[in-house]
Amino acid sequence: MVNEERLQKVIAAAGVASRRHAEVLIQTGHVQVNGQVVTTLGTKVTSKDEVMVDGVPLGKEPLKHLLFYKPRGVITAVSDPKHRRVVTDFFEDETVRLYPVGRLDYDTSGLLLMTNDGEFANMLMHPSFGIDKKYVAKVQGIPTRLDLLPLKQGLTLDGKRLAPAKYNILSSDKKKQTAIVELTIHQGINHQVKNMFKAVGFPVIKLAREQYGALTLQGLQSGDYRPLKPAEIADLKALAQKG
Ligand code: URA
Repeated sequence: MVNEERLQKVIAAAGVASRRHAEVLIQTGHVQVNGQVVTTLGTKVTSKDEVMVDGVPLGKEPLKHLLFYKPRGVITAVSDPKHRRVVTDFFEDETVRLYPVGRLDYDTSGLLLMTNDGEFANMLMHPSFGIDKKYVAKVQGIPTRLDLLPLKQGLTLDGKRLAPAKYNILSSDKKKQTAIVELTIHQGINHQVKNMFKAVGFPVIKLAREQYGALTLQGLQSGDYRPLKPAEIADLKALAQKG
C-alpha cells in the first residue's frame, strides 16, 4: 500500500514553504499535481504523484538555513498587505522561497533564522523545543536586581506561568533614567520580553535578540545574513531531538 499524505504537508516537508504558506500556494493556484492545477486543501498525494510548485518539481530545491540580522522596522512575515518591509525582502537574490523560524516584533532587531526546510523549522518552533534566546533590552527606569527578581522566579502573564528567566543588569543612565538589561529566556510567547519587563514596572524602549542557542550575530551588520554551517544545523537538530 502506498502512503497517502496531504498535499500541504508534502510541500512543507520538501522545504518549499511552511505548512501555512504551502496552503496559500495551493489556494492561489501555484501547485500542480500530475500536470493539473490543484487548489483544494487536503488533497491526498502519494510518492507516485508528481507535485510541482510554480513549475518546479518537489525535491529539486536545495535546502537553505540562514542566520539573518533583522533590522528594526521590518515585519517578520513573507508579505504585508500594507506593503511595509518584510524579512523576505532581504532574500530576493535567493532562488528558494525562505520563511522565518519564529518571529521578532517589527521594532525588535536581531538574530532570526530563515529557511526553506519545513522539517527543520517545525522542529525549532515546536513548543517543547526550548533553546536559550538572549535579548538585550533598553528599559525605562533603573531597576535593582531585587526589582527584577520576579523574572527569575517565573512570572504569571495572562494566566500563563512563565519559565524562570536569567537576567543581568549591564548599565544604567541616571540622567535619562534608563538601563540596559540582558534577559535569557527559552520560551517563545508573543511579545514575551516586553510583557515580562512591563510586568515588573520597567517598560522596554528598545529590544534586540543577540543570541539563539550558541548562535550570535558576530561578523554581521544589520540586514546581512550568512548560511549556517553544517555543524550548527546538526547541533540545533540534536538539541531539538533532546527537547
Ligand atoms: N519578545 C518580545 O517582546 N519581542 C520580540 O520581538 C521577541 C521577544
